[in-house]
Amino acid sequence: MKIIDIIEKKKHGHALNEEEIKYFIDGVTKGTIEDYQISSLLMAIYFRGMNTDETVYLTKYMAYSGEVLNLEDISNDITDKHSTGGVGDKITLMFLPIIASAGLYAAKLSGRGLGHTGGTIDKLESIPGFKTDLSIEEFKTKVKEHKTAIAAQTMSLAPADGKLYALRDVTSTVDIIPLIASSVVSKKIASGANHIILDVKYGSGAFIKTPEDAEKLSKIMVETGKRLGRNISAVISSMQEPLGRAIGNSVEIQEVIEFLKGNMESDLKEVTYMLCSQAFEKSGKILNKEEAYKYIDELIQSGKALEKFKEIIKSQSGDERIINDYSLLPQAKIKYEVKTDKTGFVSNIDALKVAKACKNLGAGREKKTDTIDYSAGIYLTKKTQDEVHSGDTIAILYTNKETALNEAEELVKSAFEITNTKPQAKSLIYKVIN
Ligand code: URA
Repeated sequence: MKIIDIIEKKKHGHALNEEEIKYFIDGVTKGTIEDYQISSLLMAIYFRGMNTDETVYLTKYMAYSGEVLNLEDISNDITDKHSTGGVGDKITLMFLPIIASAGLYAAKLSGRGLGHTGGTIDKLESIPGFKTDLSIEEFKTKVKEHKTAIAAQTMSLAPADGKLYALRDVTSTVDIIPLIASSVVSKKIASGANHIILDVKYGSGAFIKTPEDAEKLSKIMVETGKRLGRNISAVISSMQEPLGRAIGNSVEIQEVIEFLKGNMESDLKEVTYMLCSQAFEKSGKILNKEEAYKYIDELIQSGKALEKFKEIIKSQSGDERIINDYSLLPQAKIKYEVKTDKTGFVSNIDALKVAKACKNLGAGREKKTDTIDYSAGIYLTKKTQDEVHSGDTIAILYTNKETALNEAEELVKSAFEITNTKPQAKSLIYKVIN
């Protein structure tokens, strides 16, 4: 078999068979196919697409291109969650303690953020001492003991995805559904959990812009996951506006703790509860949504979910005193209030603009090797539907970079749309695909 023939076949729009896809992924993993040929095939896939069978084969060989975690010695009933990425998306940090405090196992491997703001691992690393760099054995031991653990994904899992993603990033071939689906699902298969809950976002702050595309992506991911033996569902929700009020790293940790103490923003509650109820359903613990929501309320009100978050922090060497003392989290030197010069109602807050401002303040990275300022971030003092008057503070910027303030302030101001009439409250959740 020759890679040039495979490229030629896809260039003319024909479906690749299992052997051809296996040959391609073997070559990517072993380094026997040149980057320019891999990139050429990626571009051919971009224009010609892939059918479901091709996507399933691609996902399968990517998943098995490296180590596949075996968690069966812990349980046959382990849940994993994955978000396609959003602004202010801290849901994993509520999801894990909630479902673990309900007695479910939740094993989560997560990537570092390469976007405008940090990823879940970065957020956790803003907690003094918190260790995410766990060996597979440490990770499994912690899951066994505490029902849950969260670790930075190692390159030994789905290495073909790491290689392909790096090339997609620099050849403008990221935003194509079969490649996104195989990238996400292969990593989830390699992570070993049998129940997978996908949190699929669309809108300004997501790389999928429309609900229709989010639905197409969700359907193919769910179908692929099922054909590869996983119990999987996808919750599709809007990422038009940042989730919650905090965007950054340590500021998001504070919002997570407040949520677990019962002080919940309604948008965060809507998506978190739906994802947790999906986890309860997948594991067979609670099949009815209303009952699941009542049970989550109990886990929050009784303090059990917060206690579990504290246990996770302690088990991963973090300073659990942050739960009651936020001053132990990294603090920015500059705290700057952004004021509006308009009067009316907030009708939209553009997530992408807020994310860019956040990166300028130091909370995200441009390249993998950039360092993050854990204390940098944004807190939205006004959210959609709030009434504002000229001179009101709409957001607080946290940074150690005085030079970044002007541009960040302009971005945040321009992210706020203010209209004369109060907009209608909208549900964030578009659909659940099972
Ligand atoms: N997230 C992933 O893990 N892979 C993609 O291709 C896109 C988003």
